[in-house]
Amino acid sequence: MDLSNVNVEEIVRQVILNMENKGQSVSAAQTASASATAASGAGRQIPKTARVAMLTALEHFDIKEFPIPEVGDDDMLVKVEGCGICGTDAHEFKRDPFGLIPVALGHEGTGEIVKMGKNVKKDSAGKDLHVGDKVVTCMIFKDNPDITMFDLNKQNVGGADVYGLLPDDDIHLNGWFSDYIFIRGGSTVFNVSDLDLYSRILIEPCAVLIHAVERAKSTGILRFNSRVVVQGCGPIGLICIAILRTMGIQNIIAVDGEQKRLDFARQLGASGTVNFKDFKGIEALAGGVKDAFGGYLADFAFQCTGSPAAHSNIYKFIRNGGGLCELGFFINGGDATINPHFDICSKEITTVGSWVYTLRDYATTFDFLKSAKQIGLPIEKLITHTFPLDQINEGHKTNLAMQGLKIAIINQ
Ligand SMILES: NC(=O)c1ccc[n+]([C@@H]2O[C@H](COP(=O)([O-])OP(=O)(O)OC[C@H]3O[C@@H](n4cnc5c(N)ncnc54)[C@H](O)[C@@H]3O)[C@@H](O)[C@H]2O)c1
Ligand SMILES: [Zn+2]
Repeated sequence: MDLSNVNVEEIVRQVILNMENKGQSVSAAQTASASATAASGAGRQIPKTARVAMLTALEHFDIKEFPIPEVGDDDMLVKVEGCGICGTDAHEFKRDPFGLIPVALGHEGTGEIVKMGKNVKKDSAGKDLHVGDKVVTCMIFKDNPDITMFDLNKQNVGGADVYGLLPDDDIHLNGWFSDYIFIRGGSTVFNVSDLDLYSRILIEPCAVLIHAVERAKSTGILRFNSRVVVQGCGPIGLICIAILRTMGIQNIIAVDGEQKRLDFARQLGASGTVNFKDFKGIEALAGGVKDAFGGYLADFAFQCTGSPAAHSNIYKFIRNGGGLCELGFFINGGDATINPHFDICSKEITTVGSWVYTLRDYATTFDFLKSAKQIGLPIEKLITHTFPLDQINEGHKTNLAMQGLKIAIINQ
């Protein structure tokens, strides 16, 4: 990536953020922000058709045009503002492991309600919904629309339907890589009008880490003054660091082989970094981690890579009686070798796994994003590249090339 590109992107990002912030301060000045946002949406012309980016073949999206369906009493029509590209999208783009092609992808999306059915009044957290509000969706419960988020503290989203990973149907407007998305009754929706566009795009990946940190806390080992290793500084590890930092944990060592990512880990709250490429062999690397903590091993570790070798390594960074949260394998990445005596048994390591999130984690995520901004963590810089919808193929190729961190499709 050459420097001129970085500058252009930075300027575009600033312009978008400024527009967002202006929008927010205007609505904050209103005594009835709900009616203000309703008014902003009410004047909007809804077109007869919408563009949808359909993955029609491996590594190929077509921009298709579909009629916008009638909005039923329980439905909503949302004008899409932007959507992040996720690792799952990358798998679909490259190999279609879920057999969904043709599919309207995009599940890290957000936009503005432009039309809603008469029965739609509240979001899944009980907050009022109006035309003009900014929303995100979580899971869809076609078979049980009465489930509320508070019943779901223990139910993981894994296995539930989400927009952006649905088989194509007569409606077609099923993913967030599009101009409009059609939200049906029985979907979980959150009013996130108080978050700026980039924060809203980052909600879904951040929820993964809120869940992981909640799982880590269940061990009783993760504390205010813990020494914590975060291994892997892709978006997942970086968000993990930011969440730990907002919780007040100060002693965080990031481990990766990419210096640029390690440098960014410091901006997001890591107190030190270890580049594994500087060390030969796991004993030396564990020594490097120990040195970074001033002569101590970690109390707790988060494994945020999809590498089996990294899983094998991480036990060596943890002290006797310490804890580990393994969250790096959203999909099967193969087997890892460990020594049960040295790595787990004699060290009495407490291990938890973490996979996706619950609805409750979504609500916690909104608070995290606000806290991160309040303490000055540049969380929005996780979005390094943006593309308009008609350049979605380029966006996904940039994502596959691992040139940035989070790539987003931003609608004009
Ligand atoms: N648990 C869940 O629900 C969940 C959800 C989403 C993603 N994930 C998983 O999280 C993992 C990370 O996601 P991401 O988007 O950040 O991916 P990413 O590929 O952008 O980042 C992975 C990072 O790990 C680093 N890395 C690779 N091998 C390493 C090693 N041996 N030691 C230290 N660092 C190493 C890479 O340099 C890279 O920076 C993925 O494997 C993904 O499947 C899990
Ligand atoms: Zn995702």
